[in-house]
Amino acid sequence: MHGKAFTMETVAPRQLTCLRQFSKRPATVPASFTSRSNTVLSNERHHRSVRCQAAASDLSAQQTVLQGDTDVPIITGLLNTIEWLTDYTNFYEKRFAKFGSIFRTNVLFNPMVVVTDETEVERLLKAEHKLVESAWPTSMRNLLGPNSILTADKQQHKQQRQILSQAFTEAAMREYLPTVMDVSSRTLEQWADSTEPVKFYGAAKCFAFDVAATVLTGVRFDGDRLVRMREQFETYSDGLFAIPLAVPGTPYGKAIKARRVISDDIEKLVLAAKEHNQSSQSSGRKNALQMLLEAQDENGVKLSMEQLKDQVLTQLFAGHETTGATLSRVLPELQKQPHILKQLRAEQARVISRHGDAITYDVLEDMPYTDAVIKEVMRLYGIVDGIWRQTLEDVTIQGHHIPKGWTVQLMVKRSGLAVDDFREDAHDFKPARWLESSGQPLKTNPKGFMPFGGGPRICLGMLLARMEMRTLLALLARGYSVELEDAQEYWFQGFKPVNGLPGQVYRLS
Ligand code: HEM
Repeated sequence: MHGKAFTMETVAPRQLTCLRQFSKRPATVPASFTSRSNTVLSNERHHRSVRCQAAASDLSAQQTVLQGDTDVPIITGLLNTIEWLTDYTNFYEKRFAKFGSIFRTNVLFNPMVVVTDETEVERLLKAEHKLVESAWPTSMRNLLGPNSILTADKQQHKQQRQILSQAFTEAAMREYLPTVMDVSSRTLEQWADSTEPVKFYGAAKCFAFDVAATVLTGVRFDGDRLVRMREQFETYSDGLFAIPLAVPGTPYGKAIKARRVISDDIEKLVLAAKEHNQSSQSSGRKNALQMLLEAQDENGVKLSMEQLKDQVLTQLFAGHETTGATLSRVLPELQKQPHILKQLRAEQARVISRHGDAITYDVLEDMPYTDAVIKEVMRLYGIVDGIWRQTLEDVTIQGHHIPKGWTVQLMVKRSGLAVDDFREDAHDFKPARWLESSGQPLKTNPKGFMPFGGGPRICLGMLLARMEMRTLLALLARGYSVELEDAQEYWFQGFKPVNGLPGQVYRLS
């Protein structure tokens, strides 16, 4: 929460960051979800009959009725939004129980269809730019900048992915690993040195920010610039999801100012990267900016300074809250189920005896149990709950007609919980479910597990996120223990611990 501000932290944390997007409300409210045979409540039927004559002729009378909330203009939006804000998990659970795996609702005055069927979720994610498109409100576009990949249209998106993905390959990760190791070990040391309880939710986000900033821009971990960027970023993130009132002193106004400060810092870092590339040391290890300055699309076009600045800002935004929140969710499980920490430690003992002390990229690839813990935390507590899209044309989803311009919420987390392989004990935290009896990873991930999304917009930073989570957990298991004040702490909207998850880190003697 951020004071009285109506920020997206208070509004929709589960849809934020890579996921924290929310779609534009359609310019005109589309006519209907369903066929003329729909048995909607009478007030809604009347309401629709006026609006939907043109569209209705196209709809098949055979289509199944789409269940969901009665759409009384303004009232449904208002009541639903209050319920959604105050009782997020139950908001969905109640409707899943009542209406099934697909239903219509209205949140934030935004009529939408909620989809959980894993096949449909996957199909629609893959149909980005064809049937659906990610859509952002103008206020957020302004803060992200005109060149952000998150808001790019089909053509720009293809070009930007071609260039940006060159800084997110496995080879790039190998370059970044020493920096990630450095930030991870120094962070653990700072936590262990702290005389005050460490609030792990904020601390893990801070860690993820430091990793993203140092790896992407080359900013020094112990320098003042990183501290300033971190502080400014906090203000910037708050404003991204606030009421878009561009007046000085409001969260949105402050965010505009913070964006300028961060952008100026990034510009200086771009210039430093340029200088490095032109210098005699340019053949050494590279950060992402140094790579991106040289990266080209298929036509040999490079990113301009303005593009680079917006893209780096986007990566910082997309990369830190997601990874930090995921990591902080691991800690209570280690306390509640001590055998998990024991197995993590046993894995590190095995890894050390096989590869020696050094943590290389190949060593990180040989930690199936650590990976299983990470997968399980993302399956059960995935920070990305629903991915929001807008339909580009009329689409049929599970036999229901969804008109062009509607918002579709693709529930990636829910689809992961519902897949066949997990049904019996779906709500238990069990890393072992990701392993064969031999201890090796499952050969294929179960269908429906899409914590990083899918299709053309699949998470660009997924290898980096995995690498930093593996590194921190490996170092933690090797040398530290964590004691939380309350492992059962209440998680606001399922992902944000109300007290910040305080606890202490101890060095193993
Ligand atoms: C546990 C950590 C993370 C999770 C769960 C996560 C999840 C996701 C998801 C679900 C999407 C797809 C959103 C959509 O389809 O609209 C996405 C996109 C994206 N992610 Fe991540 N992410 C994580 C970490 C990172 C990191 C570390 C970075 C970079 C530093 C990053 C950069 C991006 C970018 C740039 C996109 C947009 C890609 C595009 O539109 O083409 N993410 N992420």
